[in-house]
Amino acid sequence: MSKDRLDVQMVKERVDMVSVISRYVSLAKTGTSHKGRCPFHSDDTPSLVVNAQKGLWHCFGCGEGGDLFSFLMKIERISFLEALERLAAEAGVSLRRRDDSAKEPLREIIAEAAAYFADNLTNDPGGEKARKYLLQRGYKQEVWKQFCLGYAFPGWDRLKKKFGKRYKVETLVNLGLLVKREDRCYDRFRDRIIFPIHDLSGRPIAFGGRAFEGEPKYLNSSQNPLFDKGGQLYGLLWARKEISSCRTAILVEGYTDVISASIAGIENVVGSMGTALTQRQADLLARFADEVVIAYDRDAAGGAASLRGMRILRNSGLNVRVAELPIGEDPDSFVSREGAEGMLAVIGESTPFHHFFVRSLELRYDLSTVAGKEGALEESRAFY
Ligand code: UTP
Ligand code: MN
Repeated sequence: MSKDRLDVQMVKERVDMVSVISRYVSLAKTGTSHKGRCPFHSDDTPSLVVNAQKGLWHCFGCGEGGDLFSFLMKIERISFLEALERLAAEAGVSLRRRDDSAKEPLREIIAEAAAYFADNLTNDPGGEKARKYLLQRGYKQEVWKQFCLGYAFPGWDRLKKKFGKRYKVETLVNLGLLVKREDRCYDRFRDRIIFPIHDLSGRPIAFGGRAFEGEPKYLNSSQNPLFDKGGQLYGLLWARKEISSCRTAILVEGYTDVISASIAGIENVVGSMGTALTQRQADLLARFADEVVIAYDRDAAGGAASLRGMRILRNSGLNVRVAELPIGEDPDSFVSREGAEGMLAVIGESTPFHHFFVRSLELRYDLSTVAGKEGALEESRAFY
């Protein structure tokens, strides 16, 4: 039997299926099984039957069914591995997964780097400039803590010196903490505010670094064994609960858009980290949301990106609307000035996908000509 299957079996033996499902559904005992209202469709009779002896559940209303893992995956919108991890933690089973164990030391290095950057920001005399900058942007210390913000010192080898004693330079390069150019090897993040990017288990896997001035404004970790660049959404860790419950996600471009919205109390916001939304990001979002409101920067790039993003999101089965901020604004600047109320008003008035699309066609094609009509039709055909 595979190691995974052994783990699954052990978890199943130790976890009380009825008590786990009871957290979501009120169950009543009937004979050898339990009955309740199915949480996966609107159920006014108790059609959900849980047979703990067999370890199975089934809904006679909507036909859904499976074991405890599939129940948790469905109701929490998590992957099989996440369900396994949660239940294992609950049952006190330590998982003996193979592939992931090789990544564990890497995760520890990234976590240590995040702690190091955070300490530079919070406690080091050298972090004064960064503290001032964040405070002046309205990010207080509790915000630094919540989002695990940090600071990378200027200079070429502060991190290299500190981490190089204990870890191989090659590993640090591989993780994107150091950059290797020909025979030189130096810190990737220098004199930048650090925004750690977390996976859904709550651990940091990569960093974004903002310069105070100069280009590039943001520098991100390179693709690494922990960080699948096109498969992450900034802030999903914190936003997922709210997104799951309201079924709508607000999609923004940047780290600060997510943070400023959260400060204002809008918690269902995730960042695509630039405008190049990928299908994997959209699929990830579709695990939690039914609808996405795109709130990209209101500049030319943001407009074109919204159109591209809509298509990708719709491919993942999501409903799409586009929030139209005042020209020249981004969610960070807007919410900081207008507060949650202003932002929610714009979100509430956001344009449904079809309208936005038709309007963008009208802007780009002269629909009074045959050629214009043909062009617009051609583009719509590709889109729908
Ligand atoms: P923006 O240029 O809109 O930055 O890029 P921002 O989020 O408004 O940043 P602040 O408020 O000025 O600090 C949006 C996002 O695009 C990615 C980053 O993820 C950024 O948050 N980006 C931008 C990069 O990766 N590199 C860049 O050089 C610029
Ligand atoms: Mn922006």
